[in-house]
Amino acid sequence: MRFARNFEHLIALLGGSEAVQARLGVGPSALSNYKARASLPATKFDLLAEAARQAGWQLDPDTLALAPLAGMRPVVLLIVTGGIAAYKGLDLARRLMDQGCQLRAVMTRGAQQFITPLSLSALIGEKVYTDLFDLTDEAEMGHINLARSADLVLVAPASAHFMAKLAHGLADDLASTLCLASEAPLLLAPAMNPVMWASQATRDNHDLLIRRGVQMVQPADGDMACGETGTGRLAEVPDIVRAALAALAGGGRIIQPAKTASLAGRHILVTSGPTHEPIDQVRYIANRSSGRQGHAIAAACVARGAQVTLISGPVSLPAPHGVRLVQVETADEMMAAAEAALPADIAVCAAAVADWRVENAASGKLKKQAGGPPEMRLVENPDILASLSNHPRRPQLVVGFAAETDTLIDHARVKLAKKGCDWILANQVAQEQGLVFGAEHNQVVLISNAPPEIWPEQDKQAIAERLADQMADSLARPDAAQ
Ligand code: CTP
Repeated sequence: MRFARNFEHLIALLGGSEAVQARLGVGPSALSNYKARASLPATKFDLLAEAARQAGWQLDPDTLALAPLAGMRPVVLLIVTGGIAAYKGLDLARRLMDQGCQLRAVMTRGAQQFITPLSLSALIGEKVYTDLFDLTDEAEMGHINLARSADLVLVAPASAHFMAKLAHGLADDLASTLCLASEAPLLLAPAMNPVMWASQATRDNHDLLIRRGVQMVQPADGDMACGETGTGRLAEVPDIVRAALAALAGGGRIIQPAKTASLAGRHILVTSGPTHEPIDQVRYIANRSSGRQGHAIAAACVARGAQVTLISGPVSLPAPHGVRLVQVETADEMMAAAEAALPADIAVCAAAVADWRVENAASGKLKKQAGGPPEMRLVENPDILASLSNHPRRPQLVVGFAAETDTLIDHARVKLAKKGCDWILANQVAQEQGLVFGAEHNQVVLISNAPPEIWPEQDKQAIAERLADQMADSLARPDAAQ
C-alpha cells in the first residue's frame, strides 16, 4: 500500500504517467504491473532514482518514499483562508512535511475563526504568521523575505473571496500581499459552497487566474458541510499533496542541485508555438505545434535566473512563471517581436513558424463563388532563426530546431550552415513513432561545429533542463560554445 502511494507521488513529481513511461521506455501496462507487484526492475529503479535526484529528491529502493536530498528541502508557504475546510490545512501541512517539505504558514483572519494559529504552529514547529503590520514579524522575517523564501505558495482552502482578491491584485492583508510579492508558482485548492463556486464572478476569477499561470486543484463533488450537494468541497488532501509535488518539480523552483549552471543576468529570447497565417478574416493556415518544448525551455531558463522574453504564437499553455510574454499570431509579428526584444545573450527558436503566408489574404470573409474556390498566392515568410543569426545585434548563442525523418545529422548540418546558427537540436521523427508535435517526449541530437551529441529519449522538460545547462556552460566558456 505504501509502495503504491509512494509510486503515485513519484509519478506526479516526474511529470505524470506518460512522462515516466517515456523515461523508462515502457507502456502503461508495465507501469501498473510495477505498482501491483510493489517492485521495480533494478535498471528501471536506477533511471527513476536519477530523475528524482535531478529534481532534488532521494528515492528509497524498497518503498519508493521520497526524501529530499541533503540541504534541498523545498519550502512550501501554506496559506489557509476562511472556510469550514480550514481544519484540513492541518492534515495537509503534516502530509507535506512527510514528503520532506519545509512548511511556513500564514492564516487569514477568516481562517482563525475555524482553527487557531497555535494548532498549526505546534504542528509545523514554526511561528504561524497572521498580520501584515506585526512589527515583530517584520523584524524576524519581513513579508518580502517570507514571499521570497517560498518554492511554492499553496493556498488551501482558497475561499471565493480570496480568489477574487488574487484576481484583482488586492493586497490588503498578509496572505494576499505574499501572493502578490512572490515569484514562486502559485497553487490554489478552492473550497466553497457549490452556488458560490458556480457563480459567474467566481468562474471569471478562476479563468483569469488560470490564464495567468496559477495552478488549481479543482474542488470535488459531494455533500457539503452547509447541507448542499454539488461541486465545491476541498479536494482530497493526498490529491493536493500530489499537485504540490508536481508544481514544485514542474515550476523548476525545486531547489536545484548545486551543480546547476546559472543564467543569472542573461537575457534570453525564446520563440514558441505555431504561427497563424490569415487566409481571410476568419480562416488561417496553422500547424500542430503545442508550444510545450519552447515553453519548457523558457521555464528552465527562468529557473536558472535568466530574464526571459517568450514570444509565443497561439497556444493553450499558460506562460511559465516569471517570463515576459509577447503573444503574436503571424510570422511577421513574431519576427518584429524578436527584433524588438534584442539585445539578447541567447536566442532559442523553438517556434514552428509557417514557411509561407497568403499574399492576397482577404480583409472580410471569403464567400463561396460560382467560379470555384478562390486562388491563394503564397509568399515566403521571414526566417526568424536565419535573421537573428545574421543580425547586426546577433545574440552570442543562437539555437534552432529541426525536424528530420532521415539522414538526420547530415540534414541538420546543412540547416546549421544555411541558417548561420550555432546549435541545432534535431528531432528524430521516425514515421512509425508518430508526430513530435504535442508529444510528451522527444529524441534529439545536438548539432554544432563539434561532433554530434545524441541525447537519450526524454521528456520535453528534461530536454529543456539539459539545453539550459549547456547554454549556461557555453556562455561561461565562450570558446566552448560554437
Ligand atoms: N524557423 C524560423 N522562422 C521560419 C522558419 C523556421 O525561425 N520562418 C526556425 C524554427 O523555429 C526552427 C528552425 O527554424 O528553429 C526550423 O527550420 P526549418 O527550415 O523550418 O526546419 P524544418 O521545418 O525542419 O525545415 P524543412 O521543412 O526545410 O526540413
